[in-house]
Amino acid sequence: MSQVHVLVIDDDSAVRDVLQETLTQEGYAVSLASDGAAGILAAKETPVQIVVTDFQLPDIDGLEIIDRLTRLDAKIIPIMMTGFGTIETAVRAMKLGAFDFITKPFDPETVAVIVRKAAEFHRLRQENHLLRKAVRDQYRLDQLVGISEPIRQVLDFVQKVADSDSTVMIQGESGTGKELVARMLHFNSLRKDRPLVPVNCGAIPENLLESELFGHEKGAFTGATHTRMGRFELANGGTIFLDEIGELSLPLQVKLLRVLQERAFERVGGNRTIQVDVRIVAATNQDLETLVEEKRFRQDLFYRLNVIPIVVPPLRERRSDIPLLIDHFLARFNQTKHTSVSGLAPEALRQLTEYDWPGNIRELENMIERLLVLKKQGTITTADLPEKICRKPAVPELKEHFIQFNEDGISLSREVEQYENHLIIEALRKANGVTTRAAQLLHLNRTTLVEKLKRKGVDPRSHSESLPN
Ligand SMILES: Nc1ncnc2c1ncn2[C@@H]1O[C@H](COP(=O)(O)OP(=O)(O)OP(=O)(O)O)[C@@H](O)[C@H]1O
Ligand SMILES: [Mg+2]
Repeated sequence: MSQVHVLVIDDDSAVRDVLQETLTQEGYAVSLASDGAAGILAAKETPVQIVVTDFQLPDIDGLEIIDRLTRLDAKIIPIMMTGFGTIETAVRAMKLGAFDFITKPFDPETVAVIVRKAAEFHRLRQENHLLRKAVRDQYRLDQLVGISEPIRQVLDFVQKVADSDSTVMIQGESGTGKELVARMLHFNSLRKDRPLVPVNCGAIPENLLESELFGHEKGAFTGATHTRMGRFELANGGTIFLDEIGELSLPLQVKLLRVLQERAFERVGGNRTIQVDVRIVAATNQDLETLVEEKRFRQDLFYRLNVIPIVVPPLRERRSDIPLLIDHFLARFNQTKHTSVSGLAPEALRQLTEYDWPGNIRELENMIERLLVLKKQGTITTADLPEKICRKPAVPELKEHFIQFNEDGISLSREVEQYENHLIIEALRKANGVTTRAAQLLHLNRTTLVEKLKRKGVDPRSHSESLPN
């Protein structure tokens, strides 16, 4: 941390001298001024962090000097010295933003202590500012890696809606980056300097979730030894991220509906209505519309939440992002794990790109971490990849299915049959093993498809994409 600069303004040269000596000894850079005008000039010339000023200056009133200095730089910390320590002037000085005040005659040690407190305040404020900036930078939009059309659409959308206060509903399979999107929304919104409060509705036991969300009054239940704020209150002015919203119980869904409508609630065991200004971002990896059909999720709540829907596509639908993500994780883990893996052999990269990643980006991230820790240095080849990735598909990929005519010719019916198998299995994968859907994709009757599957001995469920291989 750079040296803190203190400006002393006083018309009494004895005061200036003693403060210069004390503060220089304490390790501060010190400048001196004998009146208000000279003080303002000095602060304009060299940025100062702390100003110790007399209340009664020959030219300007001490209160005005605080006003003018803080207008020059809002971060200046003013300390006021007063010769006639009246309570009124002290109160006025504090109201105008003085950090503290000192009554004359003073003991230099007292001044040193007060300036030390001010310097500590300056340090903490600067640290806080840097930390906030670091967090914000971490969620800059370019930190969401991807060039594929689907991810670009998500990014565009995040950018468009971040500043609005509307409720956002993020849907996507597990590990696709829903939480990352929620963070991006918050840190690119006008609320970015206010808290982002996450709540995992699926991870908190149901009986605790209500008081977790809305807080409780002292004595509301056994163990409620004092009043506690809930996450909605903590998020006031900021954003609340309700993760795994599909897990919310029906009674809590009713309460949440009210918050969405009125931005108001009561603490558990309390009757005072609390009003909050909170932006709501929810996420789920379940299909909420199905939950609504099954009466496990209230339809009115669904509509209230689904104002701005964002769907984060699974990784297998944006394979062009895989090489980029691999590079991103390689760089990151090489640094944090102190390894020096240079990259992947082309064939290994091809296999990772063709794998279906049922656990999406989280699975890819974990895999790269594991590969790096095991490999430590050099290039990752297919020999390093786990079996589930190298396993050849049961039916050859079409592009690998070159037909070679040799002297004996080929069996047309066998080749056609293989091609047919390939298309059927591809359709089953796309339809997650649901034969009705796969039949639609193939423009076949369902019964025709089922007969073919039976004849070929294919179990449709074993070709569902969502099943981990
Ligand atoms: N586009 C991306 N670029 C870089 N990292 C990403 C991207 N998408 C996701 N990640 C990383 O992948 C991991 C999983 O993402 P995240 O936790 O946001 O997923 P999720 O959808 O909330 O998963 P779950 O449903 O399991 O809670 C995180 O470490 C996240 O930082
Ligand atoms: Mg998540």
